[in-house]
Amino acid sequence: MTDSLRIVSGSANPTLATAIAAALGVSLVSSRLERFPDGESRPVVDGVRGADVYLVQPTSPPVNDHVVELLLLLDSCRRGGAQRVTAVVPYLGYARQDRRSRPGEPVAARVIADALVGAGAQRLVVVDPHTAAFEAMCAVPVESLTAVGVLTDGLRPFTAPGTVVVAPDLGAITLAEHYATLLSRPVAMIRKTRISGARVRAEELVGDVIARPVVIVDDMISTGATIEAASRVLRDHVADTGITVAATHGPLVSDAVERLRKIGVRRLLVTDSTAQTTSCDLVAVHTIAPLLADAINRLHHDQALDDLLAHT
Ligand code: R5P
Repeated sequence: MTDSLRIVSGSANPTLATAIAAALGVSLVSSRLERFPDGESRPVVDGVRGADVYLVQPTSPPVNDHVVELLLLLDSCRRGGAQRVTAVVPYLGYARQDRRSRPGEPVAARVIADALVGAGAQRLVVVDPHTAAFEAMCAVPVESLTAVGVLTDGLRPFTAPGTVVVAPDLGAITLAEHYATLLSRPVAMIRKTRISGARVRAEELVGDVIARPVVIVDDMISTGATIEAASRVLRDHVADTGITVAATHGPLVSDAVERLRKIGVRRLLVTDSTAQTTSCDLVAVHTIAPLLADAINRLHHDQALDDLLAHT
């Protein structure tokens, strides 16, 4: 059975795919990304006929390029005769657009779900997706893993007794409760309103953080606006130990890291669900390769992975 297991990597995070393959004791299937002169992607995959294929491609920035490449790779695998194709999308872009927040908007998460299935995904593996509703939008099984365990191990040295786990918005409360349970710490929450893609307003703090150290947790940090807004609400109240932040996904666009440093964030823990190129003292990257390898191994052998799944 192990003979039919194949790991294919898109161009978004080959380092992670290579680490997953190494943990599973297999080689990456040969693939390459060619381009037409006008920019069209043309990925090529060899050697998947009859195989149980796990295609690793987070849809990190440049998001649209990586989404299209993922769709084309799925089609390559299907047409190449793969017996079963699982899309392993550690960071799932467009998941934030899971509802129409005002007239005229699409439900982009649903469009992406349909596109992935239409292109040939027979199952999806994602990590801490922004919305639990994604599973219901998807016509094929979705395994939503969580990196909370991985990041909790990294957080333990920074969560002295008295530390409070803070959700920077309502959407992060389930995640915060999961961290709080593993760390045996209380939870607080901030009410946030999004004004635009890059601007948010934090309005109200619920919970006791007075003179306590805090850890802010979220599913992702993009521009850093959410963490900045939360930090502004917290900073006049919390202990003077600096703020620690943990997020599963760190696409960290534009000047997100400097933005967080300026607001008093002392450390930022993220995973390698997206390729991490930042090398600075503020950011610590924790790998989810063993988590994904474990999940892939179990799926390949039709074993349960309940203990790896996100709380919803
Ligand atoms: C939104 O609800 C998400 O959970 C994150 O809080 C948000 O997407 C982070 O983006 P940014 O860093 O740009 O605020």
